[in-house]
Amino acid sequence: MLKILIIANWKCNPTSAVEARNLFKAASEGIEDAKNVEVVICPPFVYLRNQELGSKNQGFKLGAQDCFWEQKGAYTGEVSPTMLKDLCCEYVIVGHSERRRYFGEDNDTINRKLKAALEAKLKPILCVGERHEEKEQMKEIVEMQLRECLKDINPTHLAKIIIVYEPVWAISSEQGDYCPPEYAFGAGLIIKRFINNNYGKSAAVEVKIIYGGSVDSKDAVSYIKEAKMDGVLVGRASLSGGEFVKIISSIAAISNFS
Ligand code: PGA
Repeated sequence: MLKILIIANWKCNPTSAVEARNLFKAASEGIEDAKNVEVVICPPFVYLRNQELGSKNQGFKLGAQDCFWEQKGAYTGEVSPTMLKDLCCEYVIVGHSERRRYFGEDNDTINRKLKAALEAKLKPILCVGERHEEKEQMKEIVEMQLRECLKDINPTHLAKIIIVYEPVWAISSEQGDYCPPEYAFGAGLIIKRFINNNYGKSAAVEVKIIYGGSVDSKDAVSYIKEAKMDGVLVGRASLSGGEFVKIISSIAAISNFS
């Protein structure tokens, strides 16, 4: 059965391991009856120590929010994909708009990180999306990000990559504007067509495309049913155990999705 992806991006939160443990616990309780979803939690690096925080075997997968483009070496402060894999991470976010904005990451950097993540057998979660002032050129921006971030990627690897359409203007810490599902649907089509035209039909069928940007328990289902997304990336709403569990159960309740 095709599982709908629900990815939590905690960003630089919470500020204590006790709070992190509570969030892990709430999510794992919320997953108990949710059969058709794959929940991935992406906490800050320090909370990936699953044995200590009780995140192992709790029904969800772990992901990191970033990684370096080399596997090891003299790179002070960096965390490599191999280290993440060793910590039982299965996923890693690359190219989040906050990495682009605050840390100057460009498509070339993201491409290197994506390749390093694949090399370490992690599943990259690649974020693309236009800024508010680029709305008129959404198609061109998204296609350019895809072209440059996916440069020299083997088509067979597309099945392991999750592409997040995340319009920057819809992220809660930015304008937080509502992105109508039909708009997200259009962006999803643009991404699918790009993959089909550049990587072939089977890559386009297998690649997962999800939506991110102010998703909450009221609209999560609309991005699956109306926007035909394969899942959602949840930021702020994943920091409330109750709200995140509501998102999980609302999506798990959809029985006949396509
Ligand atoms: P948001 O964040 O749900 O708080 O808008 C999503 C993200 O930036 O990953």
